[in-house]
Amino acid sequence: MPRAFITGITGQDGRHLAEFLHGRGYDVYGMVKGQSNPRAQSLVEEMPFVEIVPGDLADLPSLVAALELAQPDEVYNLGAISFVALSFNQAELTANITGLGVLRMLEAIRMIGGTQNNPIRFYQASSSEMFGKVRETPQTEGTPFHPRSPYGCAKVFGHNIVVNYRESYGLYACSGILFNHEGPRRGIEFVTRKVSNAVARIKLGLQHELVLGNLDAKRDWGYAGDYVEAMWLMLQQDEPDDFVIATGETHTVGEFIERAFAEVGIDDWSGYVRQDPKFFRPAEVDLLIGDASKAREQLGWEPRMAFSELVATMVQHDLATEAAKAGIAL
Ligand code: GDD
Repeated sequence: MPRAFITGITGQDGRHLAEFLHGRGYDVYGMVKGQSNPRAQSLVEEMPFVEIVPGDLADLPSLVAALELAQPDEVYNLGAISFVALSFNQAELTANITGLGVLRMLEAIRMIGGTQNNPIRFYQASSSEMFGKVRETPQTEGTPFHPRSPYGCAKVFGHNIVVNYRESYGLYACSGILFNHEGPRRGIEFVTRKVSNAVARIKLGLQHELVLGNLDAKRDWGYAGDYVEAMWLMLQQDEPDDFVIATGETHTVGEFIERAFAEVGIDDWSGYVRQDPKFFRPAEVDLLIGDASKAREQLGWEPRMAFSELVATMVQHDLATEAAKAGIAL
């Protein structure tokens, strides 16, 4: 059985990827940091097939020990401080985990290596946030980076160090430049889930207001379940390379809100939404739209879930969950 090692396994993508790889016959090892991490407990309950390995992206010896234990064929580095807004307040921590964490993981792989015939393959979760103040539209693998947040800066370092280690040491190391990807497993701090959850609660009479920041930002939103397949495909190629993963469509935050309210039969949503400066960012990424032609041609990858279905799926999931929690029959 092939063996996969995933950092960030308790997050949205980690869970989707663990499920996907398990379905393909992999033994799945997931790195979890900290003592009595509550997210680890819920992961074990949801996915008992995952072998939990202790480790921390801030601690190189722990990464070496984790790889020694898991002996993986493939390493997926999804662990990061991933919330852009938080990165403005915890910039140093973000640089350490989201940026230097990649370097530590690569060093750990160099130390453990795998066999000559079967070297460890490495996937890095790069991000469309690296394009920031975009230099061209749509964005491709060749678009220059201009990050607009400490998170984006850290991801650029991670991306560049993967290229450097590939070129310097011949590692099989790839980066997926993933545009925003969402779904019912998305954390409540991200705008799509914040909206889908609030819309569900407003429909059920459990909440009366949704307080947000910039409604004009445009994002290329896909479904996380589709995107983890692209991660795996990248590691199955003859040569390592970097790929943009995106839908090629862009929508404003306002459009997402509109569709979410429409899903529960509310057409005039203006009375429910208020803007608060505290949710605006010191610097914003105004427009993201990706061109995934290279992934389509070389990996045979296609996004399956369209924008309207994504919004509907998230709202319906939150309606069912919030109704069940409140004991409301739908
Ligand atoms: N989170 C949040 N909360 N965002 C808001 C809000 C709010 O109340 N109001 C408006 N927004 C706007 C943000 O300013 C941003 O322009 C947009 O909604 C999306 O914000 P997020 O959902 O937090 O995602 P992100 O685009 O900043 O970052 C996500 O995508 C990246 C890929 O481009 C994260 O998943 C990153 O980890 C990922 O790399």
